[in-house]
Amino acid sequence: MKSIVILISGRGSNMEAIVRACTTEAWPARIAAVISNRPGAAGLDFAAQHGIATAVVDHKGFASREAFDAELQRVIDGFSPDLLVLAGFMRILTPAFTAHYAQRMLNIHPSLLPAFTGLHTHARALEMGCKFVGATVHFVTAELDHGAIVAQAVVPVIAGDDEASLSARVLKLEHRMYPQAVRWFVAGKLAVSEGVVRHIDGEAQAFS
Ligand code: GRF
Repeated sequence: MKSIVILISGRGSNMEAIVRACTTEAWPARIAAVISNRPGAAGLDFAAQHGIATAVVDHKGFASREAFDAELQRVIDGFSPDLLVLAGFMRILTPAFTAHYAQRMLNIHPSLLPAFTGLHTHARALEMGCKFVGATVHFVTAELDHGAIVAQAVVPVIAGDDEASLSARVLKLEHRMYPQAVRWFVAGKLAVSEGVVRHIDGEAQAFS
């Protein structure tokens, strides 16, 4: 039985999708804890209602990123995770933290990486006249929104789209793709070689 810890900062809809898939598909895994850096994160309520341990490590209480990350790591490691899942976790992580969870930390980013790292991805894609947008699940490295790509989802931009309509269309696919990617990790189906992630049974890593 693999142990998964999920980090959130807000709504937590991706976390919800992962929790639901873990239960309904009876993964050989359990969500050991959901941890937020924001005390009011809505996702904490969902987790608690589903019998999952929750914790808050409020970044505002720390003088430096290093001190915050060290405490976060201490709390996470109390749950002995095999996998750490970032699901809308809005903090930049220190190299020491990312090194500690190397090869066992996933993130979802709402763009087709390597395009549009950072914030406001859909607005920036609209400004650039992109015809497709999407989301990427990737292993986390010290470099923000980089790391080997596990899965990508693509949606077309439709006339009249704005940031809200695009993000809603992409989010639907995120909710399919992220649980699938986590399930693959849990099942030991992901092989990383020279920075490229391959599904060992050849399952499609592209969603649309
Ligand atoms: C998602 O769009 C995800 O791609 C990004 O932050 C958002 C989190 O949404 N990293 P939620 O908290 O999972 O609902």
